[in-house]
Amino acid sequence: MKYSINHDDLELKPIERAETIPSSWYTDPDFLKIETDAVFKKNWQLACHQSQIPNSGDSVCRTVAGNPVIIVRDSSGEIRSFYNVCRHRGGPLAVKSGTATVLQCKYHGWTYLMDGSLRGVPQFDRVELFDKKDFGLKPIRTEIWEGLVFISLDDSAKSLDTVLKEIPERITPIHLNQMEYHTTTVDLIDCNWKVYVDNYLEGYHIPIVHPELAGLLDYKNYVTELAEFYSLQYSPFGDISDDNPYHAEDGQAFYYFIYPNIMLNILPGRLQTNIVEPVGYDKCRVIFDFFYTDPKKAKEQGIIQSDMEYSAKIQQEDIEICEAVQAGLRSDIYDKGRFSVKRELGVWHFQSCLKKNLLDFQS
Ligand code: FES
Ligand SMILES: [Fe+2]
Repeated sequence: MKYSINHDDLELKPIERAETIPSSWYTDPDFLKIETDAVFKKNWQLACHQSQIPNSGDSVCRTVAGNPVIIVRDSSGEIRSFYNVCRHRGGPLAVKSGTATVLQCKYHGWTYLMDGSLRGVPQFDRVELFDKKDFGLKPIRTEIWEGLVFISLDDSAKSLDTVLKEIPERITPIHLNQMEYHTTTVDLIDCNWKVYVDNYLEGYHIPIVHPELAGLLDYKNYVTELAEFYSLQYSPFGDISDDNPYHAEDGQAFYYFIYPNIMLNILPGRLQTNIVEPVGYDKCRVIFDFFYTDPKKAKEQGIIQSDMEYSAKIQQEDIEICEAVQAGLRSDIYDKGRFSVKRELGVWHFQSCLKKNLLDFQS
């Protein structure tokens, strides 16, 4: 049965009077189909950082709205993206990130240049009315913002500079394009992608879910700021001792959320990006990429190891609560809740962005 959105659920209300989005938006497989078209095919998606594909021939594989995608650096150094789908019978050009001189399909070996043009077509000599020029890889719109590579399946999406224009100024003197890729961790979590996003967007749960973190952050001064398509959370540090892994030289960290599913955790010398990919209506894949301005130095100083250990611990605590929340949303008695005006502004903003997105899509 197709999901039909109740019009009242799309009504935008100030946080003081708003309800949370209905539980069926988290638990109905058909609602994910609506989101796939309205949200994931319409908005920019973070693909990678330029330092993950530093040399010609390097590539990264992603999935966007169910589509396999490949991001490559071509022979002239330009970054391009294509559907990772061979024009012969749909085989993959790559099954994982790597380096190659040409893209060779993993099925029957058709080869494409890094600019997407079809070059080699083995054993095709008696085929009629076939021109290789008509069978190049399908390109995807790609923009590089502050060293981060974004892609959009929608050619009419607003330019990223318009969407994110105030972030670079705000984080100065940190420059995201100077970050160097270090490592990736991936978690498959048994919850709807929005449960994970909601959870990221508030510090309300910190004292209960992450009691150790609550001791390090100046929880009372936790602040959320809103922009049209993104929000920012930051907290000045309470404990600035050297063994605090969240210690930042100027005492600030920036936690940006970019609608719909991108997180940039920015500290001096460090960047951690999170991408929350729906895998099904009740499962998501969360990809954490870690970057440093000087990974060698950070490693020597033990910063990388403490970052990884800390992030894994916090993530485990978040995974457990998110999976339990998914079960609660699925229960017979829960439909909608309310927001803490003081602590859940980011969640309200995300859910309002989603409502607006769905309203725009319907009209
Ligand atoms: S599907 Fe790619 S060569 Fe056949
Ligand atoms: Fe958390």
